[in-house]
Amino acid sequence: MSTLIEVGTTRLPDVRWDANVELRKAKMKDVEQIYTLIKYWAERGLMLVRSHNHLYENLRDFFVLEDEDGHVVGSGALHILWHDIAEVRGLAVHPERQGQGLGRWLALAAEREAKDLGIPQIFAWTLQVKFFTGLGYHVTTRENLPPKVYQECSQCPFYDNCREIGVTKVLDPDNAFRK
Ligand SMILES: CC(C)(COP(=O)(O)OP(=O)(O)OC[C@H]1O[C@@H](n2cnc3c(N)ncnc32)[C@H](O)[C@@H]1OP(=O)(O)O)[C@@H](O)C(=O)NCCC(=O)NCCS
Repeated sequence: MSTLIEVGTTRLPDVRWDANVELRKAKMKDVEQIYTLIKYWAERGLMLVRSHNHLYENLRDFFVLEDEDGHVVGSGALHILWHDIAEVRGLAVHPERQGQGLGRWLALAAEREAKDLGIPQIFAWTLQVKFFTGLGYHVTTRENLPPKVYQECSQCPFYDNCREIGVTKVLDPDNAFRK
């Protein structure tokens, strides 16, 4: 007898595949939609869930893609960890808007912000390695990243069973982290 395994309980609103999308910095009114979008993917084991508290405290890190019907169809964030490294995190695209270049747009927005801020290196923890390597990131070992990048690991539910891979992109080789 087969068992039906339900993945996740979070419902996202239906969105139009062809609605126009605007990229902008997140606002407080977006928090509920960002929360729900990340939770949707977290329940499917692809992302870490982010609490409302985390989203409030880190709201200025976030970008969103808003469609013309007012739906947040993508999120992404740049979180500064140290003078020479920032993390790209919270990248999530609505399941009905996958494969339209929205994820790349969000990742490039985070990268552009890092460049504007003079941060020489960005990195991400991810299961979507090919998505990042397609954007010029390289897979790296944990030893080649500064200790700051593990600051959240101790709070992670997957601490003992981490499958995420570190990917990094150097934006300014003269000033990037060196072991
Ligand atoms: C990963 C994710 C953000 C990509 O967003 P997307 O809008 O579907 O991706 P894009 O359309 O911008 O794709 C850009 C490129 O990456 C490729 N790509 C996207 N997802 C990929 C994947 N999972 N594996 C391999 N390549 C992928 C696309 O084919 C495209 O390549 P091309 O330029 O040669 O056409 C999205 O699939 C998502 O929200 N996934 C669930 C949550 C998640 O895993 N987030 C990442 C947390 S680090």
